[in-house]
Amino acid sequence: MKKGWKMLMAGGLSILLLAAAGCGGGGGGGAKTQDGSAYTKEKPLTIKFSHVTTADSPKGKAADKFAELMAEKTDGRVKVEVYPSSQLYGDKDELEALQAGNVQLIAPSATKLVGFNPAFQIVDMPFLFKNHDSVIKFWDGDLGKKLMSSLEDKNLQGLAMWENGFKVFTSNKPIGTPEEFNGQKFRTQAGKVLEAQFKALGAGAATIPFGETYTALQQGTVDGQENTWNNIDTQKYEEVQKNLLVSNHGRIDYIVLTNKKWYSELPEDIRKAFDESMTEATKYERELAVQLDKGSEDKLRGSGKMKVIDLGDADREKFVNVMESVYSEFAETVGKDIIDGARQL
Ligand code: LMR
Repeated sequence: MKKGWKMLMAGGLSILLLAAAGCGGGGGGGAKTQDGSAYTKEKPLTIKFSHVTTADSPKGKAADKFAELMAEKTDGRVKVEVYPSSQLYGDKDELEALQAGNVQLIAPSATKLVGFNPAFQIVDMPFLFKNHDSVIKFWDGDLGKKLMSSLEDKNLQGLAMWENGFKVFTSNKPIGTPEEFNGQKFRTQAGKVLEAQFKALGAGAATIPFGETYTALQQGTVDGQENTWNNIDTQKYEEVQKNLLVSNHGRIDYIVLTNKKWYSELPEDIRKAFDESMTEATKYERELAVQLDKGSEDKLRGSGKMKVIDLGDADREKFVNVMESVYSEFAETVGKDIIDGARQL
């Protein structure tokens, strides 16, 4: 009897532990079962996906797509909850939350990983990538893969690159020539490379979380910022910015990240569904990002709310020359091999 009672207790305890695991788990653990059969439609494994852009941005739509695919492939035994617009965590907090196991998926812009590896600032090196194809080749090739795997000893698993697009500048003040940047102050995402880029232009820089940027522009804490057409559109920066310079000088590319320990402990069948869903969502995201960025460009050009300045070849050359100093200052920090590799693509 006593033995039977003990076994019953042990069984009850495992059920309790499994139920706790279904809540997403802390410290990176939380999904420790041999197979996913312990999870049911009624008691699913919950995965939290936190991000900072709107639900209708490419990142937002792809996160929703991932949730849909996971539900389909696991027959509802996994529920992905998506939290857009910094609802759950902002820029810096989301990285800490992922490491602590409070969320299981985030997709920060590569620049924001500078604290883990300064080479992620490759996306900020001025006028580096020739075109969209070079960017894709970079992230899908050895250099991109090496960068992602450098996060593993931080308990972070890089899953995919989702893109947003090339950056343009906006400001309330004129920005048609490098000289006009002089004395202005710009919002940056993170890192010293972006700071140096603005310094080269004679401008100041302040790191401000994405979720606080609209207000910072509105209140004049900063004069301008740099971002993709789609982020400018979905954040409604045209309401608080007068000028836009089509410079395409840098990139916003996302690294989709999960907690490495949590991922490695996923039941095999669920991890298979997770990997397949990520591959499909990535394909969807990349196609969508190109379309949506173009859609936002057309919309913003058409609205007439901002003065859009297209950079001619001669003026582009001036910006390239002024920003060249970023290379002498940061080639070693970012890595000469990575810079040269990206340039050749
Ligand atoms: C920004 O901070 O400007 C972007 O990285 C936001 C985003 O996730 O696209």
